[in-house]
Amino acid sequence: MGYFLAVKKINPESCPDLESVRQNADEFGIKVYQLAFNRELHKMYCLCQSPSENEIKEHLKKLQITCDEIVEIENQNASNFEALSNITKIGQTIANFSHEIRQSISIASINSHLIQKKLDTKEFERVKTNVTRIENAIEKMTRQINEVLDFVRVAPLLKKESSIKKILQDALIGFTIPQDVSIKIPDNDSIVMCDGEKIQSVFSNIIGNAISIHAKRITVTLNEESHFVEVNFSDDGPGIPKENIEKIFEPLFTTKPTGTGLGLSICKSIIEQHNGTIKVRNHPTTFTIVLPKR
Ligand SMILES: Nc1ncnc2c1ncn2[C@@H]1O[C@H](COP(=O)(O)OP(=O)(O)OP(=O)(O)O)[C@@H](O)[C@H]1O
Ligand SMILES: [Mg+2]
Repeated sequence: MGYFLAVKKINPESCPDLESVRQNADEFGIKVYQLAFNRELHKMYCLCQSPSENEIKEHLKKLQITCDEIVEIENQNASNFEALSNITKIGQTIANFSHEIRQSISIASINSHLIQKKLDTKEFERVKTNVTRIENAIEKMTRQINEVLDFVRVAPLLKKESSIKKILQDALIGFTIPQDVSIKIPDNDSIVMCDGEKIQSVFSNIIGNAISIHAKRITVTLNEESHFVEVNFSDDGPGIPKENIEKIFEPLFTTKPTGTGLGLSICKSIIEQHNGTIKVRNHPTTFTIVLPKR
């Protein structure tokens, strides 16, 4: 019995259902420990224990999957270490995520308990504060669950002709914009073949980051060329320290005490799924997204 890592390069739009890989493994004497998909590298990893490489091949044959590489863990090389470290990162994300969710649940539970106690009295103003805290905790849990799901799930794109301006406006509806913050959106518009919901979540993430870093002025501009559009989000916040600029699109990189550090890595994979690019520069902090029109 040895430990193996099976690696398969995958087209993000045709990722097999990870659960189906886990199923029927017993039949071949295989124990699947971890299944993970790295969208950036377009690779699927399966960490398992098996009598030999052969059983893994037989198991995959039954599922009509062929693997690019099956390696015994004892004989690792640098690239396999990289694969394992990605799996570890996913484990860390889940641990971080569970911790955050537990905290929010405990805030919600304490506050609902306090409401119950206050309902018999006339403390209405304080009751309002408790309800707001519960709502905030629920909102935070929802956002974190969605982020983790977006990170592990490879949903195919639902592309249709969409107005960039409308997507931006829809993204802004989701925010409570602080009074001292102004967001300028472009007067012009462009129609792009894209998955509007996913692009909206990219725009929301970028705007949300700028607001949370206390930028006061966020300017969005849109340039249309013959085959692509360019959307720029500039803000007057403090900018990104030079040593971090290479890291901000990596999963789990965050400078916030309660951030998941998944926001921008999800943005990058969504944009790349659209065959576009996302880049950042300082002075002023500007995120530039280039999307093909078709
Ligand atoms: N407009 C910005 N100005 C300065 N730094 C930024 C800006 N946008 C992102 N960053 C930096 O990039 C990091 C990663 O951003 P990302 O959205 O991936 O995660 P996060 O915002 O930290 O966490 P979460 O999205 O879960 O709240 C941030 O922690 C921050 O340091
Ligand atoms: Mg973020």
